Amino acid sequence: MNTNRKKGMFLCFMGILIMLHACGEKNTSKDTQEVLTLQKAFSNDFLIGVAINRQLIEERDSLGVQLLIKEFNAISPENEMKWMNIHPQPDSFYFDISDKYVALGENNDMFTLGHTLVWHSQLADYMAQTTDSTLMADYLKDHINTIVNRYKGKIDAWDVVNEALNEDGTLRESVFLKVLGEDYIETAFQLAASADPDVKLLYNDYNLCNPEKREGVVRLVKRLQEKGIKIDGVGMQGHWGLTQPSLAEIEKSIKAYSDLGVKVSITELDITVLPNPWDLEGAEVSQNFENSEKMNPYPDELPDSVKIQLAQRYKDIFKIFLKHKDNMDRVTFWGINDGNTWLNNWPIRGRSNYPLLFDREYLPKKAYDSVLALKAN
Ligand code: XIL
Repeated sequence: MNTNRKKGMFLCFMGILIMLHACGEKNTSKDTQEVLTLQKAFSNDFLIGVAINRQLIEERDSLGVQLLIKEFNAISPENEMKWMNIHPQPDSFYFDISDKYVALGENNDMFTLGHTLVWHSQLADYMAQTTDSTLMADYLKDHINTIVNRYKGKIDAWDVVNEALNEDGTLRESVFLKVLGEDYIETAFQLAASADPDVKLLYNDYNLCNPEKREGVVRLVKRLQEKGIKIDGVGMQGHWGLTQPSLAEIEKSIKAYSDLGVKVSITELDITVLPNPWDLEGAEVSQNFENSEKMNPYPDELPDSVKIQLAQRYKDIFKIFLKHKDNMDRVTFWGINDGNTWLNNWPIRGRSNYPLLFDREYLPKKAYDSVLALKAN
């Protein structure tokens, strides 16, 4: 063998050794490095939840299911437990989908929400049309007893009453208020508490950072507490924008509710990035407007500048949640990804919105990284 050939073989041998070593190192670091996910990152702080739609409940959205199991430890049913779906006729309940929803939560050991027992929207027609107070009281009792009992020990918390307040903090003129009078809220909480004494009971609403509405919730909670009626938490829906509500008002509300001795949950978090020329705030589902190019500025992709703004906004609000983690039970996103957000169709149908942490391909966005970065180190 000539010297050159010997040299060549030696170099080749050394090259292989170096490669093997590098591979070994890579494997070791991969084995020991824990993959951070939302639920792991915030495991000592609060639950990280998500609202799931029917495709997810029936496990027809396989990418969605993978993401759900990996990132989240709490679920809310986006529509399937609302009155019109679960109790469509006075004498008939429809439990097929809600049973599957509850089984999904049980099988994956997730905190499982019930949403919602008493709400003026997505109500069954017979309820909306009832004018007789005795009849309505019977319907309400049957509704709450039957559903809460069925899922006793399986549903961990109920949004007992949803959106009972006006923006000025007075009681909304809903069919419940008109026919049953203002005691309907107490009745609903009492019925739920006696059907399942261990389940957590929440009042849930939007625009809860608006000072007048905040005071309305404080009065509502105090009234229940003074009467000895169980209420465990306030759910701030969190249908927010890039600048509204202000961080200061978010913090004031978390404090105001915590001061009452109840836990705060963010129950329906999403941050719209689309124009809203009517200064519309909140989540009144009956509002709907015309679509146009001006109202749908990002049909294909969100510009980088807005991605960065969204990431910063999520970071800012999660900082506040972390600051108040001792008084917070949960932060739930209203949808698994941007392709499955109700904000693509509300308050204008057919727009492309980008309000969540995962994009239409189910991949994490800048906003996801900015939230996780708060816990990385
Ligand atoms: C929304 C759902 O996401 C939509 O799919 C449905 O068409 C309308 O309701 N406040 C609530 C939620 O409490 O139940 C609403 O969910 C959003 C506003």
